[in-house]
Amino acid sequence: MKLVVLISGRGSNLQAILDAQLPVEIAAVISNRPDAAGLDLARARGIPALPLDHKQYASREAFDNALIEVIDRYQPELVVLAGYLRILGDSFVMHYAGRLMNIHPSLLPSFPGLDTHARALAEGVKIHGCTVHFVTPMLDHGPIIVQAAVAVHSNDTAATLAARVLAAEHRVYPKAIAWFAQGRLLLLDNGQVNLRDDSGSEQTLFISGSLP
Ligand code: GRF
Repeated sequence: MKLVVLISGRGSNLQAILDAQLPVEIAAVISNRPDAAGLDLARARGIPALPLDHKQYASREAFDNALIEVIDRYQPELVVLAGYLRILGDSFVMHYAGRLMNIHPSLLPSFPGLDTHARALAEGVKIHGCTVHFVTPMLDHGPIIVQAAVAVHSNDTAATLAARVLAAEHRVYPKAIAWFAQGRLLLLDNGQVNLRDDSGSEQTLFISGSLP
């Protein structure tokens, strides 16, 4: 299975996906920020690393169309957003319906958007985590594939909590991609996602991290 990964920054999720040595071909890594450190990770592995600077385009639509054109050169079965920090327009999202995956650093539907860790701390939640989901036009609301939970500690700062969540992200994102590649993710009529196991039965997915 071929996939294209979109990034904007340091690329630690990309690194986790690469390190997992999944039976997939990462055909290209594209960043809307030309200086993204993640591009170097791809280059180091001989993967085409393509900067596509959104600032060079007059509108979101023009940029999205250019992005579609570059992605589709590789004909990927799956497009993976790994720390891609730019909103994608509806027509982009619909173009990749059912094959566009994102990871978000909260237990959705809590804390969509930015600054999730600081907001979780401000609310006093005791469990936080991350969510892998299919992308739909409504930001951070697509069908949930898998979630991983971590405990919130009383002395956490946004930075310490972010680090704990990031470690969970690195565990679940490669798994979700592997399940997709194996054809094991079932998108149900009610918009929910189940995992088919070897015996053909289905299960929902929840991974608990370091609960005390
Ligand atoms: C991750 O926390 C991801 O969930 C969010 O942005 C961050 C990207 O980190 N969307 P990295 O670039 O993968 O290191």
